[in-house]
Amino acid sequence: METSQAVIQPQRTGKRALEVMESDLSRLGNNLVTKFHVLMKISQIYDSRNVALQQFIQESLQTINVLIEKEGTLSLKVVRDDLFLNDQRLRYSVEGFTSFKYLLTQWKKRMIGEVMIKGVLDEGSLKEFIYTLMNLEEHNQENATLLNDHLWNHEIFSIEAYPLEVLEGEEPGMTLRKEDPREMAKKVFFETIGSVKEVITHINAKQYADARKLKRLAQNAVSLVIEDESILLGLTTIKHYDEYTFNHCVNVSIYSMSIGKRLGFSRKTLTELGITALLHDVGKSKIPLEVLNKPGPLDGSEWGLMKRHPLMGVEIVLNLKQLGEINPKMVVGILDHHLKPDLSGYPKLFRKREVSLFGRIIQIADSYDAMTTPRIYKKIPYTPEQAMAILLRERIVHYDPLLLKVFIGLVGIYPIGSLVLLSTREIGIVYKPNPDPKWMDRPAILLISRDEKKQARKQLADLTEKDEQGRFKRTVVKTLDPYKYHIDIAKYMM
Ligand SMILES: [Fe+2]
Ligand SMILES: [Fe+2]
Repeated sequence: METSQAVIQPQRTGKRALEVMESDLSRLGNNLVTKFHVLMKISQIYDSRNVALQQFIQESLQTINVLIEKEGTLSLKVVRDDLFLNDQRLRYSVEGFTSFKYLLTQWKKRMIGEVMIKGVLDEGSLKEFIYTLMNLEEHNQENATLLNDHLWNHEIFSIEAYPLEVLEGEEPGMTLRKEDPREMAKKVFFETIGSVKEVITHINAKQYADARKLKRLAQNAVSLVIEDESILLGLTTIKHYDEYTFNHCVNVSIYSMSIGKRLGFSRKTLTELGITALLHDVGKSKIPLEVLNKPGPLDGSEWGLMKRHPLMGVEIVLNLKQLGEINPKMVVGILDHHLKPDLSGYPKLFRKREVSLFGRIIQIADSYDAMTTPRIYKKIPYTPEQAMAILLRERIVHYDPLLLKVFIGLVGIYPIGSLVLLSTREIGIVYKPNPDPKWMDRPAILLISRDEKKQARKQLADLTEKDEQGRFKRTVVKTLDPYKYHIDIAKYMM
């Protein structure tokens, strides 16, 4: 809502101030969601007198009360698959997605749509609220009333809950909006990162890993790739440092499925390829972190261990019984993903044979993503263009040249996510390759204006556009290194 004060202010300062306020609120909101997530989780494990819980309650109270002092009241509301804090939609990040999803799912299951905090909270009230909330019976329409009555009986008047409004055409639970492929892609992407993480964590803890979810997600991703691969390809510019392994698996899977689509694979084969790529490095879960994250070069025995990851991956996958029919194609794909066409690389084969098609596809996707991602031992990665040049240089010995050609057609001469300088002196990000092979050097560009970055997201330029004299309005002059310009490409692609 606009206050009269905001109206009198000069427009630019007013807008700037509002943006700062909003991003501040968004940051605090994300923090709040994470706190709720942990509290709700802890309450499922410990009773309310646990020491770890006390500590966390204190931290959460601080977050909540800072927000209360700033805003007066706090409303956290579920609308479809989004969360609103005091009517502002919270944007989720890679780090925050698990918390968002957990809160959304748990509240929806309990038919709670909004929680209003109307004043400073104390330890007792927050604890009572969390435990009562989590003890509510699932799918009961009366839950909001029951929760409020319970709080009133305990003389807690500063928290109030409202029932979930199920909007038309929406089923309760985490739903995907079919009409918005970009939103859907984002959800599939982050959800898949979460699931790969879950599977690997379970394998590490020697627990039952539910890999069926991976299959469902791969199927969703296949539908998106078939519809418009450039959306998911854009998301591969997200290179999250801490979540490297999971993020990497998802990126490799997106590239592989997109190559498979161009090769005319069926939906079924694409799904198999997608799952294989998601699991290609699962064997690394058996390698100690000190080796995986070693900043310097590996010594002989460490390297020996590292080289065993494809084989260890096969062992793990063969034990994931729930995948149903794990077929030999998938197993061999994992085994082969570091095996070069001349059979150099690893593992060493007893009998000479060709490297499998899945293996050859994953290899290209794997190298490209690894090169363009910052790692502990290489903090500044290659730009997409540099990585592509390396792939091309090594194509004869290390990669299947034909598949590489398909891959270039896919990401373009200027790969998606490249930062480019245009003939107009404007700077932009390659957003989508031109579908017409004739115009491979004229992709769609997202223009970035340096002072008001927020506006840049929506300013798309078509490089095939011409002026009155029939000359191209804009042409790529050269690519730039985003690290030098401190530009976070992924932010623009989301
Ligand atoms: Fe690998
Ligand atoms: Fe890999």
